[in-house]
Order: sequence, then structure tokens, then C-alpha cells
Amino acid sequence: MIRRTEGQPAPLLSIQDLVTTIATDYGIVRAVNHISFDLQPGRTLGIVGESGSGKSILAKSILNLLPKNADISRNSGIWFDGLELNKMSPKAINGVRGQRIAIIFQDPMSSLNPVMTIGNQIAESLIRHLGMRKKRARNRSVELLKSAGISNPGQRIRQYPHQLSGGMRQRVAMAIALACEPDLLIADEPTTALDVTVQAEILDLLAQRQTQKNMAMILITHDLGVAAGRADDIIVIYAGRIVEQAPADQLFSFMRMPYTQALMNSIPRLENRPHTRLNSIQGRSPDLTNLPRGCSFAPRCPQAQQRCTRQTPPLSSDDRQDHLFACWYPVRGRN
Ligand SMILES: Nc1ncnc2c1ncn2[C@@H]1O[C@H](COP(=O)(O)OP(=O)(O)O)[C@@H](O)[C@H]1O
Ligand code: SF4
Ligand SMILES: [Mg+2]
Repeated sequence: MIRRTEGQPAPLLSIQDLVTTIATDYGIVRAVNHISFDLQPGRTLGIVGESGSGKSILAKSILNLLPKNADISRNSGIWFDGLELNKMSPKAINGVRGQRIAIIFQDPMSSLNPVMTIGNQIAESLIRHLGMRKKRARNRSVELLKSAGISNPGQRIRQYPHQLSGGMRQRVAMAIALACEPDLLIADEPTTALDVTVQAEILDLLAQRQTQKNMAMILITHDLGVAAGRADDIIVIYAGRIVEQAPADQLFSFMRMPYTQALMNSIPRLENRPHTRLNSIQGRSPDLTNLPRGCSFAPRCPQAQQRCTRQTPPLSSDDRQDHLFACWYPVRGRN
């Protein structure tokens, strides 16, 4: 199901009924289960959900970075600026990745080459994608590191990833991702491993670059607090499905899903003393090889009633067309 507001321009990215499964020894994992959404140029979409809910598999589906045992269903559509990404050859998609769509991961080491200086890594991307000459690429690398908030970039370009702190490495990964001025950046938990101050600095830098270049961003996080104030729209995912979707201000002031509310209550709070136990969501996330009948959240939901275990609630709206939720007994507000 696609919701498109009339009069809106064509989306930059359109995901249509995406289903991604993974074949494992213990069964078929339904990691992404009928997900659809549109993203307009320059906008930020927050994708929020607990660990294991399918966020990374969704991101990897877009860029054909899936593990070998994963499969995108034939009826799925992944459209980017007129290109149907999931029908393109690996070679053609390589041309899009890194140039028009870039991705950064939680662990920057997964995208950095440990045996290549960071200067050469950035320059390589500029030479490959933009056809820059070596000298020009090297100068540009220094500028890019500087704009990623790295001090002494002239010296840093000669260093290897292991010589940098986690926060520095993520800045380098970001500089590489932004080198070709992509139209879309997918940031998959980019700051999860970093402390709060570095996290805010990196997210601020991304926001700054976004405004300068009108870049769209998908900001993936398990922490609803990270998406707050940074995303224009938010999609909440549970067990591979969208369970709530709304403009961010609407979602935060008037959330409808008990699951979103539980995510909200599990945000770490600054006023809490260090090492305070988080209010994590009770119960275990469902087995994606064998989803229960009805609402997948029912075994953990404080609002659950009989109907919830019998019928799957559809993703639909009531008084606001742009606020979708999949719940038989929605809540009103934060609680
Ligand atoms: N390579 C893999 N092989 C088997 N199962 C996987 C693999 N990668 C992810 N999964 C499963 O797919 C589901 C979604 O994973 P993922 O997208 O990584 O979650 P998230 O990013 O939200 O934490 C999980 O149940 C996970 O165990
Ligand atoms: S449908 Fe029922 S179980 Fe599912 S979130 Fe809503 S109230 Fe809870
Ligand atoms: Mg993930």
C-alpha cells in the first residue's frame, strides 16, 4: 500500500511491498514483511525498531548488499529516481552505490579498508566515481576530512583506520560516504557505538551537510530519541512490518501504537544517574520464522485483547491520513 499526498513531487525513493526472506537452518526468516514507503528529496526518514526487527536487512535490500541466503520477492519494487534497483545487474547497481546512494554502518570498520591509508580510501572513491585526477582527489580528501570535523586532516590522511578512535573512524566513513555528494544517504545506526557527545556531533554534521546539499537521508536507529528532532517522518518497525508511520512531530505528540509507546519509555534519559537500568520492553521479540497469528506484538502488549491474537491489524489511519498505525486498540498520546 502506498500513500502519496496529492500534489507532492515524485519521490526520490519508493519502496513498494518489499518482502525480504532469509533461508536458514531453522526456517525461512521473514526479515522484511510487505514494507512500502516513499522518500522525497532532501527529507529525513527515521526508521526505528528494536534490535532484530529487520532494519538492516531493509537497508541492505535497497542497495543489493544482502547476505547470499537472502532473497527479495519478485513482486517487490525498489525505485530510485526512475531506476528499479532490484531489477538492475550487480554491476549497474555498483555504479549507483557510493555515488548516488551512500551507506554508513554502525561499525565503520566494516566499510573501511584496514590496510589502506584513509587518504587513499577517500581519493579512490573520488577517482572511481567522479573520474578525478590523483592530485585533485588528494586535495579534496583533505577538505572532506576537515568538513567531517577531523583536525589536522593533512596528517590524518596518512594514517590507517586502526590508528583512529571509534568516533574518528565514523567521521572518516562519513567523509567517504559524502565524497560523491549522494542524493540519498542511508545511515544504519551510525552513532550507536559512540558516546552521547560524539553521537550528537556526528548527527549535527550530517544534518548540516544535508541542508547544504539537499540530500535525503534514512536514519536507522533502535533509539527513538535519536530520531527525535532529526527526522521529518518516522516509521516504526516491529517484526519486519511497519506498525506506525507519521510525520515526526505528530508521532511524538500523539503516538498510537503501544509498541511505539514502549520504545518511547525505553529511551535513556539524561537525568537518570549513570548505569540506571533501562526500562526495556518486556518479553521477547517474536520468532521471524514462525510469526504468531494476529498482531505480532500481542504476547508483549499491555493493551492486548482477544481479537489481537486472532486477526492481524491492517496498517491504516483514522482522523489523520498521514498517520498510519496497525493496532486494534490504539492509545492516544505518550501515556
Ligand atoms: N545473515 C543472516 N542470516 C540469517 N538471519 C539473519 C541474517 N542477517 C539478519 N538475520 C535475521 O534477520 C532479522 C532481521 O535482522 P536485522 O535486519 O539485522 O535487524 P536489525 O537491523 O533491526 O537489528 C533478524 O531476525 C536476524 O536474526
Ligand atoms: S493490536 Fe492489540 S496486541 Fe497489537 S499492539 Fe494493538 S492492542 Fe496491542
Ligand atoms: Mg541493524
